[in-house]
Amino acid sequence: MQSITENTLSIADLNKAIELELAKLPLPLHLAELYDPIRHALELGGKRMRPIICLLSGLMYGAELDEILKPALAIEVFHNFTLLHDDIMDNAPIRRGKPTVFAKWGLNSAILSGDVMMIHSYELLVEMKANKLTDALKLFNTTAIEVCEGQQWDMQFETQVELPSLNDYLDMIRLKTAVLLGAAAKLGVIAGNGSKDDADILYTLLVNLGIAFQIQDDWLDTFGNQDNFGKRIGGDILANKKTCLLIIALQLSNDEDKAKLESLYLSSCTTETQEIDKINQVTQLYKKYKVDKKVNDLKENYLKGFDELEALKVVKPEYLELLKSICISLLIRDK
Ligand code: IPE
Ligand code: IPE
Ligand code: MG
Ligand code: MG
Ligand code: MG
Repeated sequence: MQSITENTLSIADLNKAIELELAKLPLPLHLAELYDPIRHALELGGKRMRPIICLLSGLMYGAELDEILKPALAIEVFHNFTLLHDDIMDNAPIRRGKPTVFAKWGLNSAILSGDVMMIHSYELLVEMKANKLTDALKLFNTTAIEVCEGQQWDMQFETQVELPSLNDYLDMIRLKTAVLLGAAAKLGVIAGNGSKDDADILYTLLVNLGIAFQIQDDWLDTFGNQDNFGKRIGGDILANKKTCLLIIALQLSNDEDKAKLESLYLSSCTTETQEIDKINQVTQLYKKYKVDKKVNDLKENYLKGFDELEALKVVKPEYLELLKSICISLLIRDK
């Protein structure tokens, strides 16, 4: 294998390029209610994993950083837009350790600033070379609709009487989260002129890892450390989310605990004391049934597809190695 050359860009280089380019987004200083929330969301960082995946996938096929940076940012700005709307839907008070846009500026700002971000993501995408734009737009649009579908399932599961199956849950998280990671990789391959076969291999790997990533997110939502995770621990329990933790706990519970969990998930809280109590009771039941072990087994089913990477016809394998290391680090994350 080709050795890592002096000219190889590091992850730190890519992060720097992402932040510099993001800072160039045209966000006027007037209409602060509209633009401050966007600055707030984009300046708070986040892991930036989607643009990193996109950049590495482009660079490994020989794309220049300049030609792939804007599409990579299109994915990141789109992701941040979905977070503004997601925090409304999930009634989430904190993200990345700070108040959510919804909590700080209210519902209308979170809707409208999110809309502007979505439009910015398309403005970034259309900077792609003309001969790649049709493929890129098709991928972006299909993915964006899938994310909305996943979000709709997620919300329906909150209130529907019948508990979704584990497969329903897995399909929901594939749509709301995983396909965007797959699309980030595929967009990179399109920019770099990789083959369709290679794009499909990377897409499948990243969709599987995306499923594992969301399973980890759901686990962290109950068992993570709020300072690291940056989101309210127990938020999914309060929103009556039908996560894999709940579905597995119900499968393992005796009749008494099953009835208890079901009634907890039908209840809604009106005071903070009730909220703390509900989170504690559900968490204790998850612990009693050692749900974390089963959740981890489920997650590990999706850490697959690394062998297929050997078949990729990349021109800069050093970036493929970086991509592999990023994929692995994502899954042992605590934030
Ligand atoms: C949060 O995504 C939304 C999910 C799909 C779980 P990230 O965990 O990638 O969020 P940031 O961008 O790093 O904050
Ligand atoms: C988010 O899932 C998926 C999208 C934003 C599309 P979550 O609702 O679990 O994400 P977090 O935990 O709020 O980041
Ligand atoms: Mg959420
Ligand atoms: Mg959500
Ligand atoms: Mg979550």
